[in-house]
Amino acid sequence: DEKIQLTKQRRKINLIAHRGASDVAPENTLAAVKKALQGPADYIEVDVHQTKDGAIILMHDATVNRTTNGQGTIASLTLAEIKKLDAGLWYDSAYQHERVPTLSETLALVKGRKKLLIEIKKGRDGLYNGIENKILAIIQENKAQNWCILQTFYDPVLENIWKNELAVPTHKLIVAKIPFIPLYFDHRLQWGNFDKYDRAMAINANQYFTTQGFVKELHNSGFKTYPWTVDDPQAINRVLALGADGVMSSSISQLEIE
Ligand code: G3P
Ligand code: CA
Repeated sequence: DEKIQLTKQRRKINLIAHRGASDVAPENTLAAVKKALQGPADYIEVDVHQTKDGAIILMHDATVNRTTNGQGTIASLTLAEIKKLDAGLWYDSAYQHERVPTLSETLALVKGRKKLLIEIKKGRDGLYNGIENKILAIIQENKAQNWCILQTFYDPVLENIWKNELAVPTHKLIVAKIPFIPLYFDHRLQWGNFDKYDRAMAINANQYFTTQGFVKELHNSGFKTYPWTVDDPQAINRVLALGADGVMSSSISQLEIE
């Protein structure tokens, strides 16, 4: 395996395995989480949705269509129905019979060996009612509040998390709305200031949104920032050189800090 050498850093950089080690295993499965546990990642990022019967499962899309052999929205399927699906075959026959994991199964596997960065997604028809409280209850049951972080694009979800007595750290996700010219795009035109996210630890933008001014402004306001999804070695070194606190990457298994 060829390794990607990252520029030496004098500060602690957190490498985040995007959707698990999704470069070597099917994304958002226990196989991908296991590979990420064995590799260089400091954090493991996963995406979660809510099933028809209120279970919290790992998947990126709002439907099971792309990453399983089934069809339909997660919100219209029960956990039992989703558990019958194959979540590995689409990726490689070596992963046939891999199942869609629940968040509880994922916590039981990780057991605090690395940090788990849980991204709360929405369904086809909008935000899942009460999803954040279910996730917080699962984190509490597993005594995982010291090694879980919750991140989302959606402010109502963050606000509900901040109201909860279980103080799980949060990251706010943002995305540039103007693709392909963003290296020259002044984020302040769109985002104003970040005061309303004061209770978040980090504000994470897509990599093209991550300029030197953006990183500086976040650091001056006390936020960390972990750009996503940075897979190309030059792009990873670019955002780290700008001062990013780490990087979410789907090339995680190949990364190595010199
Ligand atoms: O962590 C942020 C990043 O994962 C968002 O993109 O679509 O891969 O979930 P996506
Ligand atoms: Ca994600």
